[in-house]
This record gives sequence, C-alpha cells and structure tokens, in this order.
Amino acid sequence: MIVVTGATGNVGRALVDRLVAADRPVRALTRDPGRAGLPARAEVVRFRPDDPAALFTGATGLFLYAQAVGDRPADLLRAAREAGVRHVVLLSSAIITEGADETHPIHVMHATVERAVRDSGLEWTFLRPGAFATNTLQWAPQIRTGDTVRGVFAGSRSAPIHEDDIAAVAERALLDPGHEGAVHRLSGPRATTNAEQVAAIGRALGRELTFVEVPPEQAGPELFPHVPPAVLEGLLNTFRAAVDAPPEITDTVEKITGDPARTFARWAEDHAPDFRRP
Ligand SMILES: NC(=O)c1ccc[n+]([C@@H]2O[C@H](COP(=O)([O-])OP(=O)(O)OC[C@H]3O[C@@H](n4cnc5c(N)ncnc54)[C@H](OP(=O)(O)O)[C@@H]3O)[C@@H](O)[C@H]2O)c1
Repeated sequence: MIVVTGATGNVGRALVDRLVAADRPVRALTRDPGRAGLPARAEVVRFRPDDPAALFTGATGLFLYAQAVGDRPADLLRAAREAGVRHVVLLSSAIITEGADETHPIHVMHATVERAVRDSGLEWTFLRPGAFATNTLQWAPQIRTGDTVRGVFAGSRSAPIHEDDIAAVAERALLDPGHEGAVHRLSGPRATTNAEQVAAIGRALGRELTFVEVPPEQAGPELFPHVPPAVLEGLLNTFRAAVDAPPEITDTVEKITGDPARTFARWAEDHAPDFRRP
C-alpha cells in the first residue's frame, strides 16, 4: 500500500492515477474527500494530522508533500514508521542547491522537511524539480477572456516540467528498488521564456496570444492572487535572475522512467481545456 499525501494536487493526483492504473493499492489523503474527485479504486481518506497513525496502517510507501507535514514533521514521520512505512518519497524543490539563498521561504520550507525526513529513520528519496508547467495556469483567467497576458519578465526562462513526469519518477522511486538515499533533480527538456510559453498555449488553443510585460514593481495580488506577500518578493527575484541565467536542465526523467521529459508544447496541448473560454 502506498499513501499519497496532497492527493488532489497537480503531482499527487497524477501519481494516484498512475498507481491505480498499475493496479497498486493506494490510499489517497486529502483534507476534503467530498470534493476530491479521486478514482473509485483509490482508498480516499481524510487527512487528519492530529491522528496520523490511522493514516498509515498497512502502508509501506509514502509520497509526501512538504505542505502536508505541518509544523511537527517528526510526529507525522514517526507515526508512518511505527505503522510499518519503510520508504518516503518527498516532493522537494530544485531551490535546494549549493549556494542557494537559505532564507528564501520556499527554501526554508523544503530544507526543514528534508532534514526531518533524513532524521526520521525511514528510507528516503528526494525529488527536486524546477519550475512546474502548471505555474502557467496563473495566466488562465486572462487567456479565457482575451488574447494578451500581462505578466512580469517576458524573457524569464525556465525548463517547465510536466506534473505527470514528476509523478512518473515518484512512481518508479516508490515501486522499484535502488532509489533509497537518492536525490533526483528534475526538469523539462528545454528552456523557454514566459513569452514563448504564452505563444505555445496559444498554438494549443488555435489562437495568437501575446505576452505584455508589466514592471515588477507593479506586480501585486492582481497578477499573483495565490502568492502570499512574504513569498512574492523572493519569487520576483527568482524570475528576475532567470532572465539572464539558463535554467538547469537534467535528463533524470528519461533515465528513470525510460521516456523523455515532455515538452511545454505537449503540456499546453494536454491542458488546453484549462485555458478555453467557458
Ligand atoms: N510550482 C513550482 O514551480 C514548484 C517547483 C518546485 C517544487 N515545488 C513544490 O511542489 C509542491 C506543489 O506541488 P503541486 O503543484 O502538485 O501542489 P498543489 O497542486 O498545490 O497541491 C498540493 C496539495 O497538497 C495538499 N495540501 C496543501 N496544503 C496542505 C496542508 N496544509 N496540509 C495537508 N495537505 C495540504 C492539498 O490537498 P487537499 O486540499 O486535497 O488536502 C493540495 O491539493 C510545493 O511543495 C512546491 O514548493 C513547486
């Protein structure tokens, strides 16, 4: 039995779908089972961090989101180990790297959970992906209502990764031997700018879309409604730095899954309905 936290998340849902398709028993944890829309063949369980033992009965593997451990990660991990879980695959972040700004809130969150996992006595695998292709869903409201996208740093580059490629690596790490103690840095196959990503979404929709650059000092809640103000400054700095620096590109997805990482154009085709006008 594999327990998947954040089972309604971009990566968590893709992983649940994969495990169900592979006929593996999967327990999908979500804070709101009633709204989760998870596959019937998954055992859907309400995530209650105050009663963690009940979450892990009969499980041997755990897919963990840093968000899901709460402020006492050691307690959740101890409960998992005591219930018989042996291996945890943590969705961490490429932000954890040599020379990183260790005060960046996203770094702090992932570094804290990585440390707790290392100290837990469980076998572990860390997935450290770079930018998710799903980040571009932030443009969906603008694309549904017009042909321009206002955003910061048209030339900011990333190598966006398809959420199902992260899930595919997680699946292999959970089901195959040999990933214990491994850190997998993951990316999409090539660098694209924000402006190129908007154009690619347009092609997937059969429309011509244009990126309109907004000065970063004017970027506020209107452009980043889901980003807490404390995180926004760090995020803008990351985007600014990515105008000149090429993103990290790895071939880890292909090495582990046997399939090349999917392109952003392919992701845009897969997600075209998310950008369509109602
Ligand atoms: N976006 C990027 O470019 C990027 C890059 C590298 C790493 N990451 C990391 O990847 C993760 C985001 O992945 P994603 O896009 O798949 O996530 P997502 O779609 O935002 O989903 C996260 C899921 O975790 C659950 N969750 C959220 N807060 C929780 C809490 N306090 N307690 C328990 N469960 C909670 C939610 O499930 P329920 O509501 O069903 O409980 C939610 O569906 C983050 O840790 C992020 O730092 C992101």
